[in-house]
Amino acid sequence: MTHTNRRFLLAKRPVGAVRRDDFTFEAVPAAEPGDGQVLVRNLYLSLDPAMRGWMNEGKSYIPPVGLGEVMRALGVGEVISSRHPDYKPGDHVSGALGVQDYFTGEPQGLHKIDPRLAPLPRYLSALGMTGMTAYFALLDVGQPKAGETVVISGAAGAVGSLVGQIAKIKGCRVVGIAGGAQKCQYLKDELGFDGVIDYKAEDVLAGLKRECPKGVDVYFDNVGGEILDAVLTRINFKARIVICGAISQYNNKEAVKGPANYLALLVNRARMEGFVVMDHAKEYGKAAQEIAGWLASGKVKSKEDVVEGLETFPETLLKLFSGENFGKLVLKV
Ligand SMILES: NC(=O)c1ccc[n+]([C@@H]2O[C@H](COP(=O)([O-])OP(=O)(O)OC[C@H]3O[C@@H](n4cnc5c(N)ncnc54)[C@H](OP(=O)(O)O)[C@@H]3O)[C@@H](O)[C@H]2O)c1
Repeated sequence: MTHTNRRFLLAKRPVGAVRRDDFTFEAVPAAEPGDGQVLVRNLYLSLDPAMRGWMNEGKSYIPPVGLGEVMRALGVGEVISSRHPDYKPGDHVSGALGVQDYFTGEPQGLHKIDPRLAPLPRYLSALGMTGMTAYFALLDVGQPKAGETVVISGAAGAVGSLVGQIAKIKGCRVVGIAGGAQKCQYLKDELGFDGVIDYKAEDVLAGLKRECPKGVDVYFDNVGGEILDAVLTRINFKARIVICGAISQYNNKEAVKGPANYLALLVNRARMEGFVVMDHAKEYGKAAQEIAGWLASGKVKSKEDVVEGLETFPETLLKLFSGENFGKLVLKV
């Protein structure tokens, strides 16, 4: 039986925020799996700020999506036909499935997941790349110690909200920077953050002085730009700054704005270190087990924001940049 595969191909390199006409949205017959291949029906796709970077030409930590290629996306789906000995119809898998209804190809890079252990979107949030990022970037690069103050930007987002909860488990004072009263309330009331700063409603520097009376030992940066500069003025001796992302800069039409206050690193003998989650691929299993334990015991909560309809992909992706997503943004195919 032939399946119709709707798919988004990258048609041109976006300038600034993505637009629908940066993509070709077409419907073609899904390819039948060849020898050693599988056919997967995509069920949920992970929408990530990094997708914007993957559309740009130039050197990065992975090659850009080529023009005319299916837009890259992580996702979860169900194998519906297989010519690979290790996979059978009904298996659920996670991996780079693309912004399309069906994935046909070799299963290298896919791994099996169990829908009985967790709802499928959770394999894209706390139990997926998002959770791995929060876990390894905070623990390996941030190295938080009990009693220290950890500040997180993008704190109500997918990665940030997990970082804050893990820092609480490690005994830290946790301060989140997020946009809007509702998100800030959620961080305090639901996730147990010690302090919040609503960057859309107040001066971040004033908020840092109020919420971090002992300065900042770990800054987990998801947004870059002016907020990074503000936090730099409040760091402590030997502070660690985790450069996880810089979403405020991803849609820039001009050059990325770097931190003006970087000499705070010198004065405080502090360090700023970049992080890429894929470097930890071999350790995902161990981290997923620990996170699953925290989820089961209620120490960590995972929130997914599921939007329906593959066809809404360009507009739904934009929610990450306007802050309209509340939790891990997932597209239900
Ligand atoms: N290095 C890695 O390996 C790796 C892996 C995964 C993710 N990341 C990075 O982690 C960060 C968070 O990703 P995520 O998937 O968890 O997304 P997310 O935080 O769930 O969503 C993005 C959030 O960023 C905030 N934001 C958008 N524009 C902003 C601006 N100009 N200034 C301040 N905040 C802004 C919005 O929250 P508000 O409503 O609070 O504004 C929005 O909800 C991104 O920078 C991403 O690139 C890095």
